[in-house]
Amino acid sequence: MTGHAAGEHAIRDADLVGLETLVDQLDDVALLAIVFTLGRYGLTGAHDLGEIYGATSVAPRHRRILRRWLRVLVAEKLAVVEDGRYRLTRTVAAAEVEQARAKLEAAARGLEHGSGLARFFQLSVSYLPELLRDEISVQSLLFADADLDVADDVYQRNVASRYANAVAAEVAASLARPGARVLEVGAGVGGTTAVVLSALAGNRVDYLFTDVSRFFLSSARERFAAYDGVRYGLLDVNGDYAAQGYEPESFDVVLAANVLHNARHAVDVLTALRSLLAPGGALVFIDTTVEHYQLMTSMQFLMSPPASDPDADFTDFRRGTDRIFPTREEWLDALSTAGFSDLECLPPPGHPLGRIGQYLFVGRR
Ligand SMILES: C[S@@+](CC[C@H](N)C(=O)[O-])C[C@H]1O[C@@H](n2cnc3c(N)ncnc32)[C@H](O)[C@@H]1O
Repeated sequence: MTGHAAGEHAIRDADLVGLETLVDQLDDVALLAIVFTLGRYGLTGAHDLGEIYGATSVAPRHRRILRRWLRVLVAEKLAVVEDGRYRLTRTVAAAEVEQARAKLEAAARGLEHGSGLARFFQLSVSYLPELLRDEISVQSLLFADADLDVADDVYQRNVASRYANAVAAEVAASLARPGARVLEVGAGVGGTTAVVLSALAGNRVDYLFTDVSRFFLSSARERFAAYDGVRYGLLDVNGDYAAQGYEPESFDVVLAANVLHNARHAVDVLTALRSLLAPGGALVFIDTTVEHYQLMTSMQFLMSPPASDPDADFTDFRRGTDRIFPTREEWLDALSTAGFSDLECLPPPGHPLGRIGQYLFVGRR
C-alpha cells in the first residue's frame, strides 16, 4: 500500500527490539507507580469506589482514570475485586518504583529520542496524586519551561510517530494534487503537519490547519510561516461543522493525527468528516488503538471530561467502559459503517510496530 515503504524508510535506523523493551518498561513503571500511589493513601484493605475516591481526593472528572487503573490492576492480578470492594494483592515500596525507573532510563538512553519520552513519563508518574486531584496539568509537564522539545519527542520524533507521519505525508502527497484543499483537524502542536507540509511543498495546496483550541493556532502560525497557502481556523470535531463555517464537500483530504479518539461517537464523527469530503476525497488519520498503562498515568489526564461536566462519557461502544481508544478493528468497522470505502491500515499485520498500536487509517469517499 502507498506509504509503507516511506514509513519503513523513516525508521530504518530504529532499534525496534529496544523499542519493545522501552514500551514494556514504561508499562511496568506505570503499574508499580499506580500500586505505590494507592498504597500511599493507605488503601491496603478492601475498599469500594467511594472510599477510594475519598481517600485520593480524585477530581470528579478524573474518576474514570482511577476506575481504569483498578480494572487494570485486577487484570494484572495486582488487585482483586469482591462485592465491589477492591483489595491490592501486594504493596509496592518507593525503592521498587525507583528501580523500575532506573531500568526505564537505561532502556530509553539507547534509543534516539526516547529520552524526551521517558523524561515526560517519569515526571507524570511522580505527580500522580497532584494529577488525580487536578492540581497540575499534563500540559504543564509536556510544556515544562516552555520547552516544546518534549512534546515533539512525544508526538513527532518517537519511532511510531515517525513511521505514521511519513506514511501520512506520502499518502497526502499522492492524494493532494495541485490546488487540492486539505483540512487538518486537531492539528495541535503540528507534529504531523510539519512532515505533511514539507511533503506537499510544491503541490500548491490550500492547507487549513485547525484545532479545537486557539492556544495551538498562534504557535502554528509562527512555526509554519515559511509555507504558502496555510490558513488557520478553529474546529471542534464533535460540533456542527456547518455552524462552525465548514461547507459540505469542500475538501479533498481530511487529515487527523491523534485526535479522533476524542470523537464522542466515532461513527457520527467519521460520518460528519466524510460529508466534508468532495467525492473521491479521502480521510487519513492516525490514532493509538491500545490502552497502554503508560498512557493511563500520563496522557489520559488530558482526555478527561471538563470539570463542568465530569461524568460526560462517549456515546458509542465505549460508553460505560472507561476506555478511550477504539481498537484497530473497531476503527475499521466504524469507517465502513460511516460509508468509507477502499479502507487501508498501516503498519501491516505482524509488523513490530503493532506492539505500540499506533495505526494510520485511510478511507475514501
Ligand atoms: C494528542 S494531540 C495531537 C496533536 C497533533 N495532531 C499531533 O499528532 O502532533 C490532540 C489534539 O486534538 C485537539 N482536540 C481535542 N479535542 C478536539 C475536538 N473535539 N476537536 C478538534 N480538536 C480536538 C487538542 O486540542 C490537541 O491539539
